[in-house]
This record gives sequence, structure tokens and C-alpha cells, in this order.
Amino acid sequence: MDTIVTTVQRASEDLEKKAKTIADKLKGTYLERSRLKGISSCEAPVLVVAKEGINLHYNDEKFFFHPSMAMLRIKRIMKGEKDIFNTICGDIRGYSVLDCTMGFGSDSLVFSYLVEELGCVTALEINTLIYTVISDGLKNSYPKWDEINATKMNIRTYNLDYHSYLDSCTEKSHDIVYFDPMFDEPLTESVHLDPIRALAQKDQLTVEVIDRAKMVASKFVIVKNRVDYDFNKLGIYETFSKSSSKIKYGIVRL
Ligand SMILES: C[S@@+](CC[C@H](N)C(=O)[O-])C[C@H]1O[C@@H](n2cnc3c(N)ncnc32)[C@H](O)[C@@H]1O
Repeated sequence: MDTIVTTVQRASEDLEKKAKTIADKLKGTYLERSRLKGISSCEAPVLVVAKEGINLHYNDEKFFFHPSMAMLRIKRIMKGEKDIFNTICGDIRGYSVLDCTMGFGSDSLVFSYLVEELGCVTALEINTLIYTVISDGLKNSYPKWDEINATKMNIRTYNLDYHSYLDSCTEKSHDIVYFDPMFDEPLTESVHLDPIRALAQKDQLTVEVIDRAKMVASKFVIVKNRVDYDFNKLGIYETFSKSSSKIKYGIVRL
């Protein structure tokens, strides 16, 4: 389905230019906002370019970049609490991380905060619309979120499939390779994922992908999934879960 790209009402010339560039890139249709009647009645996905970022309207859902989940975790780390990634990997300052499933970019932001300026994060997202919204959000600057502004400078994003990206990587080119796929059966409390559920790629991890990730990573491969997920079928035998959490992490130490 063709994507429609427009702007907010009374947009500046710069915003209109940005919307046209995005429409060209996505091979979608640019429509002046005054010509678009009722965004919510459109069947096609509609990207609305605003000064604050890009909003995606699709399937009765509105989707935009918001670093709130990452901010909560980063604020806890600043208070001296241990993030789950530190519990699993220890001190990761200076590490290079490959986040194979960017989604909202929250895990990428937390990794980026933890690896600090000497480290870097490469984030991959296969869905072009999710990628467009989140990669733009990660580029913008937010007056209220100084910690996010400073940290996201070391994140590079690519609209790519992790299968082909992992195949193109040399051995041990990243310290950590991380996967957070869409769960086979969604958790009812994961409402934050609702806006991307219709768009997100849902294929499940395979032993072949994990074996390839083990070659690309030099220190850890980490997989996030439900607490009842069978990690053994991927050849992963170490797991970690916080008590009473519905989430578990599969860990391969290299
Ligand atoms: C559960 S979300 C990830 C959430 C993310 N960890 C966060 O913190 O916001 C999974 C994302 O991975 C993407 N994805 C699934 N398969 C992929 C693939 N083969 N290559 C790249 N991205 C993929 C989906 O489209 C979806 O946006």
C-alpha cells in the first residue's frame, strides 16, 4: 500500500521539503496537508512531518518516537541502580553493540548510554515506516531530555534486515549482538508495542541466525523473549530473568 506523506497544518517550507524528500525515498505520495481530509479515515499509512518529529498514523494507531522507556532506565542508572544489560554483561563502557531489532529504539538508547562516547551502537530495523519514524526521532534534539541528547550521538541506524547485515559483518566485529524479536504470543502488558504490531516483522529467531551472531560478536549474544520461551532450541543454555518478571534473557558468553 502506498504511503502518504504530509506535514502538520501551517507547516514551514523546510518541513514541506522534508516531507517531499521522505515521500521520494519511500516511493510514496506527498500531499499538501490542506488536500488531505481526515487522516484517521485513510486506509494507507500516513506519515505527518512536524517540527518535533514524524508521526505515523496507521490502523487506528498513532506511532511516534518517545524515549520515555529509555529515560526511565537511564535515570535509574544515573541514581546508581544496575540496568539489566550491566547485570548480564558487567561494565560495557567502550563496547560496540549491534542491536538487530531497533523497534522504538529504547534498548539502543540504553546501550548507547552504557557504552559511553568511546563505544557505539548500530541499530537495524527491517520495517521502513518504523525505521523512518524512529531514526528521525533519534536524530532530533530534545530540550527536556539532556541525557538522551548526549547519549544518542553514538547510534547509527540502518533500514536493513539483520540476516543480510549479519552476513555482511566480519568475524568479531561487534562486542555484543542483541535481539529483541516480536514475541510469538504477545504479553498482554506490552501495550507500548501496540502501535507497531501491525507493521513489525514477526519472524522468529533460528539456530542459524544465532550461530552467525556468535561469529559476529566477540563477547556476548543476548536474546530477549518471554519467560516461558524455549531458549534451548536456539542452542542457548544460560538465561537470566528478574524475579517475577515475564521477560527472560538468553545469554551466550564468547
Ligand atoms: C519488539 S521490537 C524491538 C523493540 C526494541 N528492542 C525497543 O527497545 O524498542 C522488534 C522490532 O524488530 C524488528 N525486526 C524483526 N525482524 C527483523 C529483521 N529480520 N531485521 C531487522 N529488524 C527486524 C521489527 O520490525 C520490530 O520493529
